[in-house]
Amino acid sequence: MQAIRVHQFGGVDVLSLDQVPLPEPGPGEARVRLEAAGVNYIDIYHRTGQYKGALPLTLGQEGAGVVEAVGPNVTEVKPGDRVAYASQQGSYAECQVVSSWRLVPIPTAVTTQQAAAVMLQGTTAHYLCFSTYPLRPGDTALVHAAAGGVGLLLVQIAKRCGARVLGTVSTEEKAQLAREAGADEVILYTQTDFETEVKRLTGGKGVSVVYDSVGKTTFDKSLNCLRPRGYMVLFGQSSGAVPPLDPQVLNAKGALFLTRPTLGFYTADRQELLSRTNDLFAWMASGELKVRIDRTFSLAQAAEAHRYMEGRQSKGKVLLIP
Ligand SMILES: NC(=O)c1ccc[n+]([C@@H]2O[C@H](COP(=O)([O-])OP(=O)(O)OC[C@H]3O[C@@H](n4cnc5c(N)ncnc54)[C@H](OP(=O)(O)O)[C@@H]3O)[C@@H](O)[C@H]2O)c1
Repeated sequence: MQAIRVHQFGGVDVLSLDQVPLPEPGPGEARVRLEAAGVNYIDIYHRTGQYKGALPLTLGQEGAGVVEAVGPNVTEVKPGDRVAYASQQGSYAECQVVSSWRLVPIPTAVTTQQAAAVMLQGTTAHYLCFSTYPLRPGDTALVHAAAGGVGLLLVQIAKRCGARVLGTVSTEEKAQLAREAGADEVILYTQTDFETEVKRLTGGKGVSVVYDSVGKTTFDKSLNCLRPRGYMVLFGQSSGAVPPLDPQVLNAKGALFLTRPTLGFYTADRQELLSRTNDLFAWMASGELKVRIDRTFSLAQAAEAHRYMEGRQSKGKVLLIP
């Protein structure tokens, strides 16, 4: 079968379309024939070596398709089932062997591509709004990169929780998409100082929570946007890693909370995983949650897909179609 692997860390030119043996499922595993693999920003960290995996590394953390074979002791799925998953390395491929507890059956009302599009970014938006800082009516949330893959879902789910949502984006086109997703206010942080704007929009009070996936270029000002005892939720580093921080800063800026959450700790077992995906699929089926599939690329075009995302062009989900 074909798979996109990296043999050394680097730019998009290290992405190699390789012929590799078809993997066989072991105990508690199933082989999925992939119909779509999600492209996520984390794949760029894996490609560049910001997050170091063992080489050669098959990229990709998310996919959806049909179960083709199961190993011993698999109870969750059977051959022929349509399933989706995230958080297992190696989905930029025609097939992947996946731990069966991670495989979520796709309801008939949801397409395979839509399912591939929400398994990672949708479950992330879900845990950020319901678990990391559970949003309530009366809260104001600042969401950076509000027209991104996570961003568009996070805005919709935060609104669903009753929060007022301020979003930041880099272009007018993205601003329009963030507004359509429900953002109450959108700030073009490439043109306007977002800290000043957030203070103005909150009457100087600051926001309850900042969901910051941009990192290096936004972190310091994000802290300044928080109300006393507000939550700084740093969940990514699209612009680069945040330097070390003196905890006294959190004291000086208003007894702030700082957390650096990761999806794996919020989908720790099958029950927690299904509790999140059941919500997402139900909202998608009823039309309450819109999943924007922005672009699809073939497996062989993985470099183009990475260039598109790294170049800040993506607006919603990017998929590879094997
Ligand atoms: N911790 C977790 O559990 C978890 C899970 C999923 C994703 N994440 C993180 O969440 C972030 C978003 O992931 P995603 O897959 O949905 O990607 P994405 O938001 O669709 O793409 C990244 C966006 O970041 C913004 N950005 C700002 N400065 C940038 C820069 N210097 N270079 C590139 N992009 C820049 C861009 O939006 P603008 O053009 O509007 O600025 C860009 O479109 C990533 O940092 C990812 O690692 C974390």
